[in-house]
This record gives sequence, structure tokens and C-alpha cells, in this order.
Amino acid sequence: MKKIVVLTGAGISAESGLKTFRDSGGLWEGYNVIDVATPEAWRRDPILVQTFYNERRKNVLDAIPNLAHFALARLEEKYEVTIITQNIDDLHERAGSSNIIHLHGLITKSQSDKNPVLTYDILGWELKMGEVCELGSQLRPHVVWFGEPVPMIEYAQKLCSQADIFIVIGTSLKVYPAAGLIDFVPPNVPKYLVDLNCPEIPLKDLDMIIKSSSIGVPELVERLLI
Ligand code: APR
Repeated sequence: MKKIVVLTGAGISAESGLKTFRDSGGLWEGYNVIDVATPEAWRRDPILVQTFYNERRKNVLDAIPNLAHFALARLEEKYEVTIITQNIDDLHERAGSSNIIHLHGLITKSQSDKNPVLTYDILGWELKMGEVCELGSQLRPHVVWFGEPVPMIEYAQKLCSQADIFIVIGTSLKVYPAAGLIDFVPPNVPKYLVDLNCPEIPLKDLDMIIKSSSIGVPELVERLLI
């Protein structure tokens, strides 16, 4: 089976009602990254950080996958598909995709503040101060914050180097190392991009579908399933 690697960002979940980061009205308009998405923020004001992620977790639980998520799941009828997502929502899982790599973590899980390898499912929307891991340390969102290592990046880079087809959906490609994954895709491999806007960075030999995800992704999937 041919291998398809898909890199997704916040734009694929926008039509499920989840805010992106850098569009107008995006998350980083309401909050300063420094205050809620860094290890220093967690040490400085853990309650603000928990509140930020509890609100986002509530939104994720209320959201449902959209036509783009479901279309990607259908690709598995004909291809070996791996989704490398920057998103911390679980909409790809709920749409039925089976191989998903959460480069930046998964908001429905918590992790030990002492040992990040210890992760736990969060039942419901709220992770509270005082909830501790088996080592007795405070549980924090299982999210990769700015300045923290991205544990799955080497594996993701390897997958991109072995892709037969590469698809980028709904990401501004502004945050590294995720944005650098496209450089690991061999030059002769067909590359597609689906985004509401033209990318601000120059991208070459890429078939661009400048449409919303819920329209552009099903169209692309239809073409690939013929
Ligand atoms: N359909 C398709 N694309 C869309 C839609 C839509 N309905 N709405 C927005 N987009 C596109 C925007 O044009 C933009 O290219 O989605 C992208 C959103 O970009 P960002 O807000 O920067 O989100 P993302 O690229 O996922 O951010 C990467 O930054 O803050 C960190 O960890 C966070 O994972 C996140 C990372």
C-alpha cells in the first residue's frame, strides 16, 4: 500500500468550532503565549495555565469532527495513512483515523509534573490543582509547551522521508520543528496543501487547494481514492 503522510494544524478543526491561533480572533489574541503555554508560566501561575487548558478541553469535548476529519479517515481504504497533527484535540481519533501522532500533545490527557512519561486520561473537562500522579506530583496538561522538547519529532521526520504522498492541511507553518517536516519529504513525492489562505511562506512544487478544509479535503480525498 502507498504511504500517505498528512500534517494538520488548527485550520482543520476551525470548522468544528475550535479557534485557531494566529487568525483574527485566534487564541493568541485572547491570551499571551508567555502566560499560558510555557514551563515558566506553569511555575509562575499554574492555576491560570490549568484554567486556559480546562476551557480549551471543554471546547474540544463539545466539538465534533468535520467533513475534513472524516474524509482523511476514508483515505485508509486505499492507503497506509499516518496523520501527524499539531492539534491537541482528539477529532482525528473521533473521525476514525487509526494512526495519529500528536506532536504537541493531547488535551484529553494529563502528565506528571515530575516525569512526563507518566500520562493519564482526564475524565471530563477539568484538571484540578491537587490532582497528583503516582509519584505524588501535580498533574499538568499533556501538552508540549513552547521551549519544551517535541518527543515525537524524529519519528515524524522519518515518516515524512518515507512518504509516497504528503498533504499539509490548515497550518500556518510558523512553528518549528513541526513546520520543518515538509523539508524531509523527498522532492519527487507529490505534495498537496489545503488551506483557507495562501501560505505566507514560499512553497515550491506543491498542489495548492485554497479552500476551507471541509470543502478542500473531501475534494482532494476523492481525487486520491479514484
Ligand atoms: N480551513 C482551512 N484552513 C484554515 C481554516 C479553515 N476553515 N481556518 C484557518 N485556516 C488556516 C489558516 O489560514 C492558517 O494557515 O489554518 C492555519 C492556522 O494557523 P495557526 O493559527 O498558526 O495554527 P497552527 O499552524 O496549527 O499553529 C501551530 O502553534 O501555537 C502553536 O502549538 C500551537 O500547534 C500550534 C502551532
